[in-house]
Amino acid sequence: MKHIITLIPGDGIGPEVSSAVVRIIEAAGIQATWETYYAGAQALEKFGNTLPEELLESIKRNKVALKGPITTPIGKGFTSVNVGLRKALDLYANLRPVRTLPNIPTRYETIDLVIVRENTEDLYSGIEHVVVPGVVESIKIITEKASTRVSRFAFEYARREGRKKVTAVHKANIMKLSDGLFLDCFRKVAADYPEIEANDKIVDNTCMQLVMRPEQFDILLLENLYGDIISDLGAGLVGGLGLVPGANIGEQGAVFEAVHGSAPDIAGQGIANPTALLQSGILMLRHLGEREAADRIEAAMLKVFTEGKVRTRDIGGEAKTTEFTDAVIAAL
Ligand code: NAI
Repeated sequence: MKHIITLIPGDGIGPEVSSAVVRIIEAAGIQATWETYYAGAQALEKFGNTLPEELLESIKRNKVALKGPITTPIGKGFTSVNVGLRKALDLYANLRPVRTLPNIPTRYETIDLVIVRENTEDLYSGIEHVVVPGVVESIKIITEKASTRVSRFAFEYARREGRKKVTAVHKANIMKLSDGLFLDCFRKVAADYPEIEANDKIVDNTCMQLVMRPEQFDILLLENLYGDIISDLGAGLVGGLGLVPGANIGEQGAVFEAVHGSAPDIAGQGIANPTALLQSGILMLRHLGEREAADRIEAAMLKVFTEGKVRTRDIGGEAKTTEFTDAVIAAL
């Protein structure tokens, strides 16, 4: 099957890592037409808008995008493209698989868990005001609709990927109404998936358990703020943000992205590590039903890591982006 995929190469190292990933995906035999768009600072310069309407239309049409990192200039008037995309397309579930890679030194050798974060509400609704000078109120919104759909997403993902357990993470002992509602919705959805174990844990305890016994977790389901924090904790468990994939998924489309930034310090030198975006590309292929190609690319990537001969500079090697890419293609 031929796919039409929206491609946002992004800024800094974005074009380098995204062309590496496109090469690998095509070498695996995937037929794709890539609709390439600018976003962020480049789009602002060319079209006067950081998130051009044509780009949003392309994602709505194709329902899938691969996105490199976007520089967020510090200063006024530039809203984050990532947040803009999530809002414009209602990408309500953030997916972050966290897995140990061979030959990447970490505290634990066999971590394999998935973090699902609600992306649209909670304290990120941005509703804050000064009640009286010296007192600020920030409002946490939790709805039945958002909690239910993200819970369903987690269980559907578990079913599709053959995962065994979903753990809802919360603070319902203190925030009895808001986190209580989230937990109620989770439990109702869990009843529809009897083959998948469902349990829940308080968020502070979860943090401790994650650094002491991470192997007990399979899928973690969290509200927006807890999910944001624990996603980075998860990335840290397996070697950092430069290696893990990410995706934002909704009914109108799915955007698979590098979670690291545009790395201006090494941009244009041909030494960026494309692993994070490659892993996001693998997730994207599974989402598109191209499971066989995804598995082959993953096996090839793992082979290169296992052999440990071709490593980019960020993980202690000397290889250029193209050398790593060539090695994965050769392993395919
Ligand atoms: P960064 O992730 O770009 O860089 C942090 C460090 O990690 C740098 O030393 C960089 O060279 C290294 N690094 C990151 N990705 C790498 C890769 N694939 N291969 C090798 N080394 C890599 O974070 P920083 O410097 O805080 O942000 C730079 C810009 O990126 C900012 O404008 C920021 O707003 C933006 N950003 C965008 C994100 C996105 O679009 N998803 C996420 C994070 C930051």
